Amino acid sequence: TKQRIPHDESLDNILALAQEGYTFIQDRVKRYNSNLFEARLLGQQVICMSGKEAAELFYDESRFQRKGAAPKRVQKTLLGEHAIQTMDGEAHRHRKLMFLTLMTPAHQEKLGRLVTEMWEDTISRWEGLEQVVLFDEAKELLCRAACRWAGVPLEESEVKERAEDFYSMVDAFGAAGPRHWKGRRARSRTEDWIRALIEDVRSGNRQAEGGSALLQIAFHTELDGRQLEPQMAAIELINVLRPIVAIANFITYTAVALHEHPQHGAALRSASGKELEMFVQEVRRYYPFAPFLGARVRHDFTWRNCEFKQGTLVLLDVYGTNRDASLWEEPESFNPERFRNWSGSLFAFIPQGGGEPERTHRCPGEGITVEVMKATLVFLADHIRYEVPDQDMSYRLDRLPAKPESGFVMSRIRRK
Ligand code: HEM
Repeated sequence: TKQRIPHDESLDNILALAQEGYTFIQDRVKRYNSNLFEARLLGQQVICMSGKEAAELFYDESRFQRKGAAPKRVQKTLLGEHAIQTMDGEAHRHRKLMFLTLMTPAHQEKLGRLVTEMWEDTISRWEGLEQVVLFDEAKELLCRAACRWAGVPLEESEVKERAEDFYSMVDAFGAAGPRHWKGRRARSRTEDWIRALIEDVRSGNRQAEGGSALLQIAFHTELDGRQLEPQMAAIELINVLRPIVAIANFITYTAVALHEHPQHGAALRSASGKELEMFVQEVRRYYPFAPFLGARVRHDFTWRNCEFKQGTLVLLDVYGTNRDASLWEEPESFNPERFRNWSGSLFAFIPQGGGEPERTHRCPGEGITVEVMKATLVFLADHIRYEVPDQDMSYRLDRLPAKPESGFVMSRIRRK
């Protein structure tokens, strides 16, 4: 006879999930002493799982599909409707290749250089200000950098609102009420803007820079040889721009980490690329951003005594896997050294998804994220000095997405 896997009766609605936030899977994994449990969300049966083996299973395409997994409310804010995140099989791999060719090491370096130049350019303005909020500055800077890098024209007068719209889409992912609606309005405004741009490029009214994301996506052809619908092309170009702006969140955590662990600051000033990379990786492991991922069972199978019935929604614990005590020594402490001799794993360290990006849904933007974070870390640790006034840097694990409350306020900024 089959052993029943733990069954949690209390989570009978999606709000319970949103309220418990980042730790809801991990808390139950510990309570039941099982990396796998069943729960009910919005009246539907879901299976929640955590850890490296669970991640490996989750990314097995023969067992899971994305079709039908992303809730409409998340597609209407964060992702865009019917975009790459909802695709499967050959069509997904073909679309994925389009993204990956935009994110080669040369593209990553180009964006890293742009970000460095733009940070340098902000110093003289910052020197004249009483204080700045790093999170707000980072959003605007990244919006400028993302658009320049992608070949998307952007007037200086538009930067603030466009940056706010890009981040509002991200900020809406775990929200109900006003924060959700703000994200929806931001998305429709942004889609209108980018769709018109795609149409201008196609009609020849506007030249797009060679090799730019704008050009590549405007003229990308599907497996059937047809171009994307203008709306779809806009959504996919936004899938490049929006997450670059979202790096503002990791940048804010980076500043908090530097402040709370000043011993690393000194080391980073004389650091090689290796130490910078270790620090950035630890920021991505330690701080909460992506909470969990969802997929649906493709056809019935049994794994570890649990029956996975076709169509069942399965959630993979991203935050908890990055802090799994069987994978990470003292997972609750911030320690970049853990990455010095780290052997690497496609499924144990999954802040941006797992597996190989060419074959799975793993984020194609990790290289870009790491480059942008390193460029910013060098700037903060070595190119400026600043004071950190009293403020609330804490972040709430029951708010999706989490972010340091104060946004990291800096004062008396000087060039070094
Ligand atoms: C997918 C996180 C930055 C583009 C994903 C996924 C996560 C993620 C968790 C889903 C993985 C899955 O479904 O299995 C993040 C985080 C970022 C970030 C935390 C930091 C801000 C970026 C950047 C780009 C990008 C900079 C592009 C420039 C994408 C795209 C997908 C994706 C296009 C969909 C991939 C697919 O469905 O095959 N990201 N990402 N992301 N990300 Fe990122």
